[in-house]
Amino acid sequence: MSDTSEAPSIAENKPPAILSLIGDTPLVEVTQFDTGPCHLFLKLENQNPGGSIKDRIALSMIEAAEEEGKLQPGGTVVEATAGNTGLGLALVAGAKGYRVLLVIPDKMSQEKISHVKALGAEVRITRSDVTRGHPEYYQDVAARLAEEIRGAFYVNQFGNPANPLAHERTTGPEIWEQMRHDVDAVVVGVGSGGTLTGLGRFFNRVKPRRGIEVILADPTGSVLYEYVKMGKLVESGSWAVEGIGEDFIPEIADMSLVTDAFEIDDEESFATARDLLHKEGIFGGSSTGTLVAGALRYCRQQTKPKRVVTLVPDTGNKYLSKMYNDFWMAEQGFIHRPPQGDLSDLISHRYEAGEVITVGPDDSLLTAFKRMRGSDVSQLPVVDKNGRAIGIIDESDLLVRVHRDSSHFNDPVEKAMTDRLETLPPDTKIKDLLDVFDRGRVAIVMEDDKFLGLITRTDLLSYLRLHMPKSAAPLEREFV
Ligand SMILES: Cc1ncc(COP(=O)(O)O)c(C=O)c1O
Repeated sequence: MSDTSEAPSIAENKPPAILSLIGDTPLVEVTQFDTGPCHLFLKLENQNPGGSIKDRIALSMIEAAEEEGKLQPGGTVVEATAGNTGLGLALVAGAKGYRVLLVIPDKMSQEKISHVKALGAEVRITRSDVTRGHPEYYQDVAARLAEEIRGAFYVNQFGNPANPLAHERTTGPEIWEQMRHDVDAVVVGVGSGGTLTGLGRFFNRVKPRRGIEVILADPTGSVLYEYVKMGKLVESGSWAVEGIGEDFIPEIADMSLVTDAFEIDDEESFATARDLLHKEGIFGGSSTGTLVAGALRYCRQQTKPKRVVTLVPDTGNKYLSKMYNDFWMAEQGFIHRPPQGDLSDLISHRYEAGEVITVGPDDSLLTAFKRMRGSDVSQLPVVDKNGRAIGIIDESDLLVRVHRDSSHFNDPVEKAMTDRLETLPPDTKIKDLLDVFDRGRVAIVMEDDKFLGLITRTDLLSYLRLHMPKSAAPLEREFV
């Protein structure tokens, strides 16, 4: 090949083409649920390149800042965010060559932090147990950093008019076209209020005088439902659905656009999102469950046929270790097993149901180590061919064996395991369980000869947390 052959050229100052794939998301009809007399449609915002509806506002807020001269080449984009907005900004601003600095509360999952870092964003972790006005509150930290850094732009999705404008200019018109100008109601959630305000304004314009109802679906614990229904601000509670619900009214949220509201608890939201995946094959996040549950309630209350739209705001990928994980759901009390009233209620992974990761006595120590790493546990029960628990192997047992000569990773498990087992029958008292933990062991629950499962300190702590009186439970804060 000669030097003059055509090499693919990198267009100067042109961002990657992926940004042109933001928006224009598909709309599908729900066909496998009882929608009463209504037709219910879902706008699949999970299909945006960054996996959420926030890609739209990231693009709109960055472009507005560029046009207004608030963001110059070489500038830094700063935002306080816990989730999708950070991903959207890392994608959009990163692709446009800006430095991206995200201030993230410390309760957010490692997966989310890894994701924004992989996109090239820098992360400052701050406290999640403080409220607005505190110097370490995530929004205050971001505002301060933006002042300190030369050429920095503080995005502030809660007060940025380019946030609702993204929905007024793109999401709304797309829905209107896809529905062939025939819409009776749209069901939304509020995080920053951008979706509500943008869609509300657009639909009021194309079909004025409340021709299109704007229905709020709000997590139980958020203050917005009460505000719409009673016109007053109540004390907030806590909720586990992510991305929507608030303990204040965001600056850009025009709540006067809402015509009615439904309150949906975590359990119903999660169950609905999981059902949506099973029945329709649509993989949404936790707030998808809230919105679809709210839309279904609205639909089933109607006496005349209506055409209703709601959103799938983000992808379920981010919720695989939570809402889509049966163990997490059971641990949090969202999936209920019939209680036995004994120690077996504390067993999170039951052997009989194939839920326990085990190792055989003839397996190698390397196999044991890989299984521990793969499932993030520090010990494994050793179970023989007849299904009997004959030992337990933990990280210390492995270390003792291999620390001088790592070729011992090839030794069989039975050479390193502990066979002095702390077996307990299911009717043991919790106090006796504590004695086992004091000896640095895990408890193996056996009913006669039958191995039921293990109980670790974490299992006991999770059980106690779940049974903590509601009045004593601290409030969990939500971050958008
Ligand atoms: C995960 C998630 N993020 C964000 C939003 C939109 O919130 P807003 O436009 O009010 O910030 C929603 C709305 O349903 C959502 O479910």
